Amino acid sequence: MEIVILKGVAQACQVAARLVESLVREKPDAVLGLATGSTPVRLYAEMIRAHCEAGLDFGRVRTFNLDEYAGLPRDHEQSYYRFMREKLFDHVNINPANTNIPNGLAQDIPAHCRAYEDAIRQAGGVDLQILGIGANGHIGFNEPTSSLVSRTRIKSLTRHTIEENARFFGGEDEVPRHVITMGVGTIMESRQIVMLAFGEKKARAVADMIEGPLTSYVPASILQMHPNTKVFLDEEAAMELKRSEYYKWVYENKPAWQKF
Ligand code: GLP
Repeated sequence: MEIVILKGVAQACQVAARLVESLVREKPDAVLGLATGSTPVRLYAEMIRAHCEAGLDFGRVRTFNLDEYAGLPRDHEQSYYRFMREKLFDHVNINPANTNIPNGLAQDIPAHCRAYEDAIRQAGGVDLQILGIGANGHIGFNEPTSSLVSRTRIKSLTRHTIEENARFFGGEDEVPRHVITMGVGTIMESRQIVMLAFGEKKARAVADMIEGPLTSYVPASILQMHPNTKVFLDEEAAMELKRSEYYKWVYENKPAWQKF
């Protein structure tokens, strides 16, 4: 894992957007793995800016989202389908037919999950996966104790995640109890991972992910085993890291050819 601690969210998202931009310029039909939640919103704004101001072409880009709430129709205010349209897809020249998000209303959920995995495989796998992290260390909706080799499937949310997400739904009772999420194993097959985490609320999960033991109790800790993961943090999210001075030193002293 490469740990990049930057002054704030804006700077971190600009640097992360540059990685997405250089991938898409190099491989115009790149497969992007996308995340929802408040964390990547600024990154998506930077991607929209790269499209509008620097002509970044999303015409052939393909996308797979990590997860969706089970039981929510696509036009529900809080569906991740709607989130992606509002935060990214409606503002760039992406072909809607090239975007994939699990269908929260799938009748046969196991069959839908298998088809989702097949579609990722047929697309050639995910080139770059964007990730956030839950305050309990989840990635996608892979809650603590998720199998570290899991595939796309239905999961039950923890009470903690339901409480965390209640702010979007106007109350805990409105938050769906089930979700469809790419598995930890699915995420681990992405060729490159860009994880973003901001704010003090994420500091404990970030430290556990980076410096703690590898455990399904902190699903994000599996990223220690991924060969090409970059973690972009602001100062607050980096607060509990023991070796933050070292990570900063490494980033500041990168050889010129390795800088991004
Ligand atoms: C949600 C999503 C995750 C996201 C996380 C953090 O439940 N399923 O993909 O990373 O929680 O959300 P936020 O970025 O709003 O803190």
